[in-house]
Amino acid sequence: MPVALPNIIKTFINLQPPNQTRGGKPSKTPLSITDLIAPPMIEVDFDNIKMGNYFFRTLFVAGYPRYVNANWLEPLVSFNHTLDVSMYIYPQRSEEILENMKRKIGEMEATIQSDIKRGHVIEPSVQVALEDALALQQEIAKGAQRFFQFALYVTIPSPNLENLNKTTRQVEATLGSLMIVTKKAVLQMEEGFKTTMPMGQDRLMITRNMDTTSLATTFPFTTSVLTANEGILYGLNEGNGSLVIFDRFSLENANTVVFGKSGSGKSYMVKLEVIRSLMFGTEVIILDPENEYETLTRALGGEYIKFQFGAGTKINPFDLGLLRVTEGDEENELNQKILSLHGFLRVIMGKLTATEDATLDRALVLTYKQKGITPDPATQTKESPLMEDLYKTLIGMENQIAISLADRLEKFVKGSLVGIFDQQTNVEITNPLTVFSIRDLEDELRPIAMYLILDYIWTKVRRSMKRRILIVDEGWYLMKHPDSAQFLYSIAKRSRKYYLGLTTITQDVEDFMEVELGKAIIQNSSLQILLKQSSAAIEKVAKVFYLSEGEQHLLLSCETGQGLFFAGPAHAGIRVIASAEEHALVTTNPKELEAMKEKARIDKLQIASPPSQPMGNQPLAEINKPTASQVKASPMTTVVIEDLPKKEPATTPPSQMQSSQPQPIPQLNPITPPIIKPGEPAALKPVPASPTESPLLPQQKPEQPKPDANRPLFTVVPIDDGKK
Ligand SMILES: Nc1ncnc2c1ncn2[C@@H]1O[C@H](COP(=O)(O)OP(=O)(O)OP(=O)(O)O)[C@@H](O)[C@H]1O
Ligand SMILES: [Mg+2]
Repeated sequence: MPVALPNIIKTFINLQPPNQTRGGKPSKTPLSITDLIAPPMIEVDFDNIKMGNYFFRTLFVAGYPRYVNANWLEPLVSFNHTLDVSMYIYPQRSEEILENMKRKIGEMEATIQSDIKRGHVIEPSVQVALEDALALQQEIAKGAQRFFQFALYVTIPSPNLENLNKTTRQVEATLGSLMIVTKKAVLQMEEGFKTTMPMGQDRLMITRNMDTTSLATTFPFTTSVLTANEGILYGLNEGNGSLVIFDRFSLENANTVVFGKSGSGKSYMVKLEVIRSLMFGTEVIILDPENEYETLTRALGGEYIKFQFGAGTKINPFDLGLLRVTEGDEENELNQKILSLHGFLRVIMGKLTATEDATLDRALVLTYKQKGITPDPATQTKESPLMEDLYKTLIGMENQIAISLADRLEKFVKGSLVGIFDQQTNVEITNPLTVFSIRDLEDELRPIAMYLILDYIWTKVRRSMKRRILIVDEGWYLMKHPDSAQFLYSIAKRSRKYYLGLTTITQDVEDFMEVELGKAIIQNSSLQILLKQSSAAIEKVAKVFYLSEGEQHLLLSCETGQGLFFAGPAHAGIRVIASAEEHALVTTNPKELEAMKEKARIDKLQIASPPSQPMGNQPLAEINKPTASQVKASPMTTVVIEDLPKKEPATTPPSQMQSSQPQPIPQLNPITPPIIKPGEPAALKPVPASPTESPLLPQQKPEQPKPDANRPLFTVVPIDDGKK
């Protein structure tokens, strides 16, 4: 029964007598809910129905293919237009079906027999139908299959008739490619429309029989479409072949975790993200414990800072100057620094008792005081103390606890571990791509160095806000110690406010997730990428990420570079793809690296190249290596992508950045991703286009190569950001 809405409202607010409506004017027919939600008009035509300003057309499926695969309706489900798809499934009673089949089989056998008797050729379709029926009869009799009637209808909504006709043709073609025959529900458009409404009323009743297996294949599995207008390419969506183009900064936080066993393609994927993010002006800072990013950094003109004994790069954990936000910002930074020093010193010294902690706190305050630094911001521009000063202060305190603390500190001040944090800071993050390498540090020192570098980066990040990505490779190092784990977690928690996306990569999934803070980091990462997992770790991964059985199976059996991509609520199977040029920069396959080196060596021996050919025969890392002036003279540099030079075939000099075949750009060509055979790095093939251009005969060249014909894909261009 229709309910008079205005009356209800009036009853509640008791403002007007029941026979009056809006504006106080009397109305004989108050609006009902039906009036409110009903379209202004409906016009039923023979092959469409117009409702308000919208047209609808219903198609029914009249013919199905003989063989289908699982998820065969996927093209319909992910059709690029709104469609109302209805499926009706009517279970049938097996006894009835068996009875009917017996009769039908008898009929078909009789047809065949009579054909034989008359000397006719047996009708092949009858023969096939009989075979099918016999097989099905057996299955149903065994109870292995059940029998159903299945109906499939599609209603296409469209704002105008022209668009409706076009979309209808597209739907028909899409279904036609699946060998599905569709027909318009001519003269039954109203029934068709009602059939595809979510009311469960099949008014057309155009069905086809199906057994359980066939029916199961019609299940409309959907996969999230992660193709956004903005962002960078992560790979191919395995579910529907679409591109995964995504901007991680569009999520509630830009943090990412990448988990996978060793060799699953974690660094590969992250490196591609680095290359592609840089193109869009995102700054990238990487903590690289395995020297995996060196080639890439050199090629892109980034800054590669190595921490090792005797390398000269130092970060002073006591450095206060770093925290200054802007000139004239009179904030007291000492307290904050002392807090972070507590965390750092606990990583160095191990667990501290309450008394030890209190002694350390006093010693820290005293150490700064001895340098004239107090909570007064004006004093905080003075030179910061060093680790050695703290050591001396502790010794000077002349109590047993302080001396025991000093003992624990000694090896970092004068013992075997004197290294990267015993002098004033001398590194700066000025390049859009800055990588901190700690491979050459002892295992014992790595978590400490990682903590210190992260602290340094974090301070920098807070000082000037910019779209940045911070990548911590082998993040499980930091999970080893509760304080460093806590620190990473606090970065993950707060990064959003500083326009920072933290990427944590780890192969030791179990170690990472054993720690509560590890799980907390995962929960604070909106983008989660799982690559191939080991069977030992899968159970834990499944628990933390709530994986279905199918997803677990996929992660166990997938290939390198394949995995699952979780972006907030959207899940998708992903395959990471790279162009040949990108592959040459990001691969860590020793065989391929060896081949590239060998190739470069042979080229060097063979080609007596004139100096005007900068890219003819050098190793890739050397080609794009920025000159010292490029990196140092420009405090602010950005990596920009430039159009590849247009090359005249006759004048193109050999180039290492070209491949012998025109390479498809993977972003634009998802169907044929670049295939790279191991040991055959396509990116390093020189291309002599004609005999006169042979690098062996440089003197025969018809003309000198144009200076910009050999430009790399990325060029480091200094820009003035006005902060000089
Ligand atoms: N999508 C991909 N396409 C082609 N090759 C790939 C892909 N992903 C990874 N590889 C290859 O697989 C190898 C291992 O990849 P990667 O270095 O990224 O492993 P990883 O997961 O970082 O391992 P580890 O944890 O040991 O550092 C590399 O040689 C790389 O070239
Ligand atoms: Mg790696």
